[in-house]
Amino acid sequence: MKTPRTIVVGITGGIAAYKAVNIVRAFVLNGDSVHVVATTAALRFVGKPTLEAISRNPVHTDLYEGVAEVRHVAIGQGADLIVVAPATANSIAKLAAGLADDLLGNTILASTAPLVIAPAMHTEMWNNPATVANIAVLRSRGITIVGPGVGRLTGADSGAGRMEEPETIVAVALAVLDRQASGLSRGAEAATSAVQDLAGRRVLISAGGTREPLDPVRFLGNRSSGKQGVALAQAALARGATVTLVAANLEVAVPSSITTVLVSSAMEMHEAMTLAAESAEVIIMAAAVADYRPKMVQLGKIKKEDVGDTLTLELVKNPDILAGLSAARRRGQLIIGFAAETEADADRLLALGRDKITRKGCDYLVVNRVSQHEGFGTERNSVTVLDRHGVIVNEASGSKMSVANCILDLIG
Ligand code: C5P
Repeated sequence: MKTPRTIVVGITGGIAAYKAVNIVRAFVLNGDSVHVVATTAALRFVGKPTLEAISRNPVHTDLYEGVAEVRHVAIGQGADLIVVAPATANSIAKLAAGLADDLLGNTILASTAPLVIAPAMHTEMWNNPATVANIAVLRSRGITIVGPGVGRLTGADSGAGRMEEPETIVAVALAVLDRQASGLSRGAEAATSAVQDLAGRRVLISAGGTREPLDPVRFLGNRSSGKQGVALAQAALARGATVTLVAANLEVAVPSSITTVLVSSAMEMHEAMTLAAESAEVIIMAAAVADYRPKMVQLGKIKKEDVGDTLTLELVKNPDILAGLSAARRRGQLIIGFAAETEADADRLLALGRDKITRKGCDYLVVNRVSQHEGFGTERNSVTVLDRHGVIVNEASGSKMSVANCILDLIG
């Protein structure tokens, strides 16, 4: 059983406060202990009983309650992570100035835990130079900012400023927490500095499984869901990187703060990766790319009446994107590949990995076993990372997010 972590969810007074209930619920379902600190304005948008029922803890608002237990600092001191969602323009300004005129301000100032905020406001407020400057200040302090997304706002208008979806905020927050925990195991100093260790790095990740068209309605595909690649993108984002995701047929949502290029076939992925690689410092090929594609793509649907009892497909080889990027790598560019293998024997699995990294020419190779129950489509993964000499440099087993963080440790 995992030890529950204490997560403080700060809710400020914006209409998106109603979505904070889902954030609280997701943390509780994840087994964490959640304490809500809501501003007075937040409670005009969402009810205290709802938050207490969902968080299973009292909700605190008033600076002058619980004085005997020094609550204004105790909540922050006891937190492993603080998430402020939604964070209004006003609360962002207060955070940047270090104000402590309410319980949430005191809680944040009294805490050394990592802070994740999810801004939500109208586009004009988000683009206002005051907010832009305040956000820059928060980023420079290592605070993780999730979103905002672009989309429909409260009124009839749309644009940047919509609070990022609750599941994305939770995923990024948990990635920050996992990262903090792995930092703590290496010492408190590492923990505080490690959180934003990819700040400013440009990371390109491929995810999902390609589909090779046979005709307008059919394709040859694979079981990859894209979960590991998306977890890598979320973890890199949480660690401060600028992330581009080349996504093929994902079964999972991608945070809108990640630049995503949608592709379907291996040839499309090849083109998108080659282009995006020009400005990437780190490339991670987590996608399952088809090695072959049908030589001919039929213009109309293939009909069994025309084909008869057997259908023979002629396939041609796809370009090996990873090998190509490795061969054309710019100075200082770091390239990581994956090897998904069905080999059950651990030694033979590693031997396959060692052969592969030699052929692909990448810097690291993440070797994982896949079957109908392991690797592809599942929530967990188990990997061994080899360097270019075939030496094991990291091993990880657990959620795809924790595996992602172990892989990113190689570039941090
Ligand atoms: O050769 P294999 O498919 O096992 O290699 C796996 C690695 O190579 C993965 O990182 C995958 O993304 C990449 N790959 C590629 N282009 C291909 C096939 C695989 O980049 N055509």
